[in-house]
Amino acid sequence: MEVLTKGGSEKDTRHFEIDLADTGLSYEPGDSLAVLPQNDPALVAEMIGLLGATGDERVHNADKVETSLREALLRDCVITTIDNKLLRAVAERAPAPELAVLMEPERKKELADFLWGREVIDVLLAYPAVKFTPAELVPLLKKLQIRLYSISSSLRACPRQVHLTVATVEYDSHGRHRKGVASTWLAQRLDASMAIPCFINPGKGFRLPAPEEETPVIMVGPGTGIAPFRAFVQERRVTAARGKAWLFFGEQHRASDFFYEEEWQAALADGSLTKLTTAFSRDQAEKFYVQHAMKNEAAGIWAWLEQGAIVYVCGDASRMAADVDRALHEIIASEGGLSAEQAAAYVEALRQSKRYRRDVY
Ligand SMILES: Cc1cc2nc3c(=O)[nH]c(=O)nc-3n(C[C@H](O)[C@H](O)[C@H](O)COP(=O)(O)OP(=O)(O)OC[C@H]3O[C@@H](n4cnc5c(N)ncnc54)[C@H](O)[C@@H]3O)c2cc1C
Ligand SMILES: NC(=O)c1ccc[n+]([C@@H]2O[C@H](COP(=O)([O-])OP(=O)(O)OC[C@H]3O[C@@H](n4cnc5c(N)ncnc54)[C@H](OP(=O)(O)O)[C@@H]3O)[C@@H](O)[C@H]2O)c1
Repeated sequence: MEVLTKGGSEKDTRHFEIDLADTGLSYEPGDSLAVLPQNDPALVAEMIGLLGATGDERVHNADKVETSLREALLRDCVITTIDNKLLRAVAERAPAPELAVLMEPERKKELADFLWGREVIDVLLAYPAVKFTPAELVPLLKKLQIRLYSISSSLRACPRQVHLTVATVEYDSHGRHRKGVASTWLAQRLDASMAIPCFINPGKGFRLPAPEEETPVIMVGPGTGIAPFRAFVQERRVTAARGKAWLFFGEQHRASDFFYEEEWQAALADGSLTKLTTAFSRDQAEKFYVQHAMKNEAAGIWAWLEQGAIVYVCGDASRMAADVDRALHEIIASEGGLSAEQAAAYVEALRQSKRYRRDVY
């Protein structure tokens, strides 16, 4: 494990190298790794204390397997979000008219606002008069789910290894410090010798052209969106791919958040990367994002598109992907001399011919 963000960064993003050993797992660039994480033992211990339990009580998990309360809360149950079943059970056991109101069908938005940033422990703390036995509580919790991480290595370049690029999720809400389950498990609680329960999730549409093809590739990957493109560039090097490759990367600060900088310089030198364009959002007064850098390079992007380039976008779905999409439309309209409708049709044609591929989350 290596921390990619350097001193002065506002983030904690890490590079992980996982040994596949004799698992028989195999993957292609563009695939992701599905990881089954564990909850934070400190949070679990606090919950057990609030329940007045020891942790050794026998319960049945969602798969109907008998286990201890401690193990169920650590490995099997979602404890960092609140299921409606739990809220309903609390409302049934205590005078909690505010909860009953929140669960009225027409109050979905208020319920979502209430749940945002709250964990199961908040309910136990807020309603101390409500008592659950371990066997009553566990069925009120959802089953812990896998998290997906884009693989940031090529198996051909890194035999028997899977690399990941993971931003650690931590935040404060409702007066408590919160930790994203999987990202903090990987960053803070995983012992180097531990086996990680995982499987490969094929990234069906996210594939490089065959190395002998001349097809150029344009890769847009701000933040952890860079991950699959590190895999792509490694793969291009080992397969001596013929087409051109252009990477757009963005993060907050050049000095602290330029992930894999030396690797990109080496890739530019050996031709596995043709062009690198960066956008560091907080190094100047005005925000500067990948889509701004793309617009500055509009003529080049248009020329590559007209040469048949495939555009790949990876990273934040909530804002970045939509903004990059808008920028792509604008570039095509301005450089191609097209109306907004014609540009939209051009983008739609790219999508239909699988030349516009997105892996956003
Ligand atoms: C196809 C795919 C590929 C991905 N690849 C990568 C990758 O390469 N690298 C990477 O880092 N991630 C990647 N992700 C995201 C990753 O799967 C996880 O969602 C991410 O690591 C967070 O998981 P977690 O378990 O740490 O956090 P969780 O325990 O799931 O917590 C995250 C949740 O916390 C809540 N939250 C977050 N911030 C706040 C806040 N300020 N206030 C209130 N609530 C908040 C939100 O509900 C958020 O959904 C990918 C996702 C997909 C679907
Ligand atoms: N839902 C949300 O509101 C939200 C917010 C942040 C992160 N996330 C999630 O947190 C995880 C980790 O994020 P990450 O570390 O990979 O990086 P990230 O938060 O996506 O940030 C990477 C870079 O993208 C910039 N950025 C912010 N908004 C943008 C936009 N609209 N268009 C283009 N670039 C934009 C950021 O700038 P600035 O930070 O300077 O704005 C930063 O320079 C991801 O899962 C992401 O989806 C979600």
